[in-house]
Amino acid sequence: MKIVETVEELQTIVKEAKRNESVVGFVPTMGFLHEGHISLVEHAQKESDIVVMSIFVNPLQFGPNEDFDRYPRNFERDSRLAKNAGVDILFYPNVKEMYPTEPAMKVIVHEGVDVLCGKSRPGHFDGVATVVLKLFNIVTPDRAYFGMKDAQQVAVIEKMIRDFNIQVTLVGCPTLREEDGLAKSSRNVNLTGEEREEATFIFKSLELARKRITEGERNAASIKDEMTTLLDKNSSGTIDYIDILSYPELKHREQLEGKVIVAIAQQYSKARLIDNIVLDIK
Ligand code: PAJ
Repeated sequence: MKIVETVEELQTIVKEAKRNESVVGFVPTMGFLHEGHISLVEHAQKESDIVVMSIFVNPLQFGPNEDFDRYPRNFERDSRLAKNAGVDILFYPNVKEMYPTEPAMKVIVHEGVDVLCGKSRPGHFDGVATVVLKLFNIVTPDRAYFGMKDAQQVAVIEKMIRDFNIQVTLVGCPTLREEDGLAKSSRNVNLTGEEREEATFIFKSLELARKRITEGERNAASIKDEMTTLLDKNSSGTIDYIDILSYPELKHREQLEGKVIVAIAQQYSKARLIDNIVLDIK
């Protein structure tokens, strides 16, 4: 595995690979890798000749009171995991390399961001879209692999690819979970022991929604009420949102039909966790 820290070197390597008609798969991350990230690499490997992973904690997507400084980092461990997973090129730029000058412009996302994480994290998806556009331009991948754990991010990037005619295929990959259902996340290390136990109720609440919908319930408000009660009763975290929306449009529907996303964000003392499931209601 080659570790590349500059845009120029990365571009030279990818150009060379493309001259040989290699299919380039790309897995963008912010590091502190876990099996969720590794599963994206596994998907990429199946469909690509070379797999590029980026590790960059993007300051642009963190709000002023968010956890940019506290975001966990461990490059030594990450590079070992990436190498073992079969990543060919690990792109690891620093902030100065990605933003050498004060940016004169950014991507502004104005659809699908008034709900879920977009609502409580103003500007977050502008920061995500901007860095992903830069990374797409640097890496020029044929396919890019994103986790459905961040389903709103997937919806935003899909629209960016469409609106800006970016020549890349986005692949949305399933959420990897711990045995007790908690979605794997770099932020889980910031939970206390007690919070770690309580956090299992996030997935339990999503499963409750799945059960109620399977049983025939179509009223979004009553399902959300039941989820709120379950989560509130069993955990000390503060619910940021519990919502059920059409997917990928992310619109509220009183009566549920078609593809829907059931999503939760919950704030614990030092970690904000998100999770979701997407259901197809026949
Ligand atoms: P990060 O949070 O590091 O996540 C990198 C990728 O891993 C994302 O596509 C995310 O959805 C996926 N992922 C995280 N947890 C997962 C899990 N449990 N199962 C499957 N996939 C999982 O998302 C970002 O970084 C950033 O916003 C980024 C796209 C890199 C832009 O800065």
